[in-house]
Amino acid sequence: MAFKLLLSILFVALASHIVESCPRIITRAEWGARPANTAALVTNPPTHVVIHHSATQGCTTQAACMNLVRSFQNFHMDTNGWADIGYNFLIGGDGQVYQGRGWGRTGAHAPSFNNRSMGICLIGTFTSGLPTAAAINAAHALINCGVSSNTIRADYRLMGHRQASATACPGNALFAAIQSWPRFTTNP
Ligand SMILES: *[C@@H]1O[C@H](CO)[C@@H](O)[C@H](O)[C@H]1NC(C)=O
Repeated sequence: MAFKLLLSILFVALASHIVESCPRIITRAEWGARPANTAALVTNPPTHVVIHHSATQGCTTQAACMNLVRSFQNFHMDTNGWADIGYNFLIGGDGQVYQGRGWGRTGAHAPSFNNRSMGICLIGTFTSGLPTAAAINAAHALINCGVSSNTIRADYRLMGHRQASATACPGNALFAAIQSWPRFTTNP
């Protein structure tokens, strides 16, 4: 009896630990996404994680971040003619994760990596300044969550957008910072 109780306590503790390792993700319904149909990833779980900045102003409240995420989706769909917002996930200066295309979908963010990567955009311009500590922590939590839920390969390669095409993205300061993040590679 006591042993069974111990086992179920252990199970609940383990289960809540697994849930805790994934950050809360603000859903598309919550931020008011337009409906969109995107292709499944070709390589799933994906082998690469590509870090971006939005090259816009940043945001520190959920309302302001949701406004920016909606504006990115409008720009990507209406001006670029893409099927949806380009990124798989976005992270605000508020430290929250916003679902873009989400897990398992091909993105439109890094030529030749779109069908085998997760594209994560930190909202703001990180040429000389860095994202908030909360945003950086959320990025690590999201990547770890992907690995533990098998939506990112455990041996993924981390890279910046500029390693896929000629762009300043994710900004000099953030690009320097991600070089000390786990699994960064100079040779994606
Ligand atoms: C994945 O994307 C690359 C580059 O964009 C393309 O050459 C390749 O054909 C794609 N793979 C598949 C199976 O669609």
